[in-house]
Amino acid sequence: MNSPAPDRARNLRARLGGLGFGGDYNPEQWDAATRAEDLHLMNEAGVNLVNLAVFAWARVEPARDAYDFGFFDTVMDDLAAHGITANLATMTASPPPWLAAEHPEILPVTASGGVLSPGGRQHFCPSSPVFRDRAVRLAEAVAAHYRDHPALGVWHVGNEYGIHVAECFCDTSAADFRRWLTDRYGDIDALNDAWSTDFWSQRYTGFDQIAPPRAAPTYPNPSQQLDFKRFSSDALRTCFTLERDALRRITPDVPVTTNFLAGHKSVDVQRWAPEMDLLALDSYPDPHEESAHIGAALSYDVLRGAADGRPWLLTEQAPSAVNWRDRNAGKSPGRMRLWSWQAVAQGADAVMYFQWRQSRGGAEKFHSGMVPHAGAETRVHAEVRELGRELALAPELAGTRLRNEVAIVFDWDNWWALELDSHPSNGVQCLDRVLDHYTPLFEAGVGIDVVHPSADLSPYKLLVLPSHYLLSAEHAARIAAFVAAGGGLLASFFTGIVDEHDRVHMGGYPAPLGDVLGLRVEEFWPAAEGETVALRAADANSPAPAAGSLWREDVKLAGARPELFFAGPDWDDDRPAATVHTHGAGTARYVATRPDPGTMRALVDRALADAGVGAVLPGLPAGVQATLRHGADHDVLVLLNHTEEKHEVSLPAGRLDLLDVRRPAVRHVTLAPRGVAVLGSAGT
Ligand code: GLA
Repeated sequence: MNSPAPDRARNLRARLGGLGFGGDYNPEQWDAATRAEDLHLMNEAGVNLVNLAVFAWARVEPARDAYDFGFFDTVMDDLAAHGITANLATMTASPPPWLAAEHPEILPVTASGGVLSPGGRQHFCPSSPVFRDRAVRLAEAVAAHYRDHPALGVWHVGNEYGIHVAECFCDTSAADFRRWLTDRYGDIDALNDAWSTDFWSQRYTGFDQIAPPRAAPTYPNPSQQLDFKRFSSDALRTCFTLERDALRRITPDVPVTTNFLAGHKSVDVQRWAPEMDLLALDSYPDPHEESAHIGAALSYDVLRGAADGRPWLLTEQAPSAVNWRDRNAGKSPGRMRLWSWQAVAQGADAVMYFQWRQSRGGAEKFHSGMVPHAGAETRVHAEVRELGRELALAPELAGTRLRNEVAIVFDWDNWWALELDSHPSNGVQCLDRVLDHYTPLFEAGVGIDVVHPSADLSPYKLLVLPSHYLLSAEHAARIAAFVAAGGGLLASFFTGIVDEHDRVHMGGYPAPLGDVLGLRVEEFWPAAEGETVALRAADANSPAPAAGSLWREDVKLAGARPELFFAGPDWDDDRPAATVHTHGAGTARYVATRPDPGTMRALVDRALADAGVGAVLPGLPAGVQATLRHGADHDVLVLLNHTEEKHEVSLPAGRLDLLDVRRPAVRHVTLAPRGVAVLGSAGT
């Protein structure tokens, strides 16, 4: 029998003894006096975890194989002496100038053949054997040097893989792509079939003829584009696993992670997750956006779903403003605290920032820091300190998990395929469509998981498919079985259209779910930009609709009952816009347009009611989020007031107020604007 994979994340949890708190620490940018002040301030702020040496390659290996750890030895010793754990980087995120000068072939090449120069960061071809070799050697050297250091708690490999360079089109990448295709398809005819190469005379007679989808006169083959995205994510993942393997050989008990960026399309987090000991996310919601917290909530649920529900680390967020938007809003008082607790509420076991001390020079000098340019006697630093104090009050949150009954089905294959070119409407964008469904569910107050279609669906009562264009026959069959066995389904237009190779499921859309939904779609008629689509209720029991937008289509009923109709003027009044169908013991709903938010909420509420799913805490005011994290014999309720008003909340049973050191029992909570309550079950 195989022994279970070791739970290395537990080692970090045991070390921290509660939630992690800290940020990217870049001491190499500062003098000794500032570094001494840093340690003192970190202790005062309750910092127990730092991301260290993320961009230190040039300093630690100033010339080939000439490692110099002197500077970081002092830093690591100081951290240990101050009780701070290092999420120590393998330092491979940005190759040093000497490496690019010696080996210009490591530089990435764009689809049009341009070479990306050093001078920024992440300037490496993911398939480059030279880069990979130098990176693994450095990771090995770092691991061998710090293997027994008391400050070492977790390994931070690379940094936000793929955010600047996700795909490389050079000849080395082309050869690697061909190897990847040979592994995937075995013979060239299988590839020709999968890629539909009889279209436009693209039939290959050998793998050696295949190149990445470089700039072409018109649309490159879509299946080739899709496979190149899969390959590119895998190529980066290989960079990660090569370093990870080196680390595991030397420090088998130290967990290994890398930080993903929320909402980033190029890296398939679900395919990377099984390779990692724990998942980590960097999250930068825009304070200028009114519903930024909902987009952030979605990204936390995506990450937690990829982690199979395990706790994760918020490795970066901004203490206040970032520097990379056109206009960079600061976080108003209380917002940083609220958004930090939100990550914890949704499963994070650590709250960290980019970065500890705001840089004096370089491209990110106007990115906020936990210690701003103005120093520690500042609003931002005061809020940082206060949050550090608070997070330490609820150590029992660490290691706990959420249990939700609604799952949005999500995967990167669909994200990539849905947004390929030459589609019925370029207005159908994956995250927008997911948010169109996530937002009313979030507002209904239910807990949401976001899962891959191959995930265990048994914990769920309702599945949601928001324009899930690419759906393999195998995954469609799992969803059909889920509904037949009594589950609820809410699916929207342009779902179940193509298989894993981007080939249409024939017989009327969405063929593999037609029986489940009780309908067949003959034709798509997307709306013009800004056009609204009139809707009318099928009968007095149907939701009273305002309008749709983005899409309409010709739905033919095959057992489903219409709830809404398209209402012209160009359309016959008998074309369904929303339907409901009983399939086996379950109920399947279909939405053939993008309804206005009120109508969408009404449809979502019906789907929740059909499936018997209730809010985490019923009766909450709009804009107050509630989540429940469960431990073995306790749970913690977190309430987050995302509004600018005060709210009173009555609890169904007494709970302990964990943010008050005395932990009084409360039945009633007053939430200030942007306020937070963290409430343990009796016995916590
Ligand atoms: C990313 C990177 C950091 C820094 C921040 C700035 O998250 O990982 O190095 O550039 O963005 O927001």
